[in-house]
Amino acid sequence: MYKVLAFAGSLRKDSINKKLLNALKANAPENLEIEIFDIANIPLYNSDTEAENFPEVVKQLKEKITAADGVLIVTPEYNWSVPGVVKNVIDWASRPYGQSVWGKKCLAITGATSGWQGTVRSQTMLKSILQMMGAYVMPEPELLVSHFDDNFDREGNPNQETAQKLTEFMAGISDWISHFKR
Ligand SMILES: Cc1cc2nc3c(=O)[nH]c(=O)nc-3n(C[C@H](O)[C@H](O)[C@H](O)COP(=O)(O)O)c2cc1C
Repeated sequence: MYKVLAFAGSLRKDSINKKLLNALKANAPENLEIEIFDIANIPLYNSDTEAENFPEVVKQLKEKITAADGVLIVTPEYNWSVPGVVKNVIDWASRPYGQSVWGKKCLAITGATSGWQGTVRSQTMLKSILQMMGAYVMPEPELLVSHFDDNFDREGNPNQETAQKLTEFMAGISDWISHFKR
């Protein structure tokens, strides 16, 4: 079994990225244990807070990432880039200095949009940030979910063709982690 800590990069309750994450979990192979972490309570990064009162919720997140074999981020694209809430999580989990959880951590990134470009720019930038922080970012398979409403029903269930892509993506995560666990 491999443990994967996963979070969606959107705070809104009806988020299509939260729905995609749930669908990915439902299509994961049996050897992946997916735990979904809600980032809604992560405060905005502030070095005063870090020095004076390191947030308990960030400590918990860091412990969960450290204990996990991999991390899955399912993120929207905001203005051709990574949403602030996602970068905020990455920044917190890189602190205190020298105690980042991202080094040598297996990472998988995907995302959904109602538009047509499938979060490609957000994913590309996020991959670059995490690679520079020493994470092992899964290069393939890529999963770019565009036109979300055409491919998922209102409850967030994918159509058959999309479900197949989700299954391949999740199998890819298992395969990617296995390269580092031999
Ligand atoms: C501030 C903002 C910027 C956005 N910029 C983009 C963008 O650059 N590319 C894109 O495909 N969608 C963009 N969108 C649309 C989002 O893909 C859409 O709102 C999506 O539903 C957000 O994900 P969520 O449902 O998980 O919250 C933007 C939305 C917001 C609120």
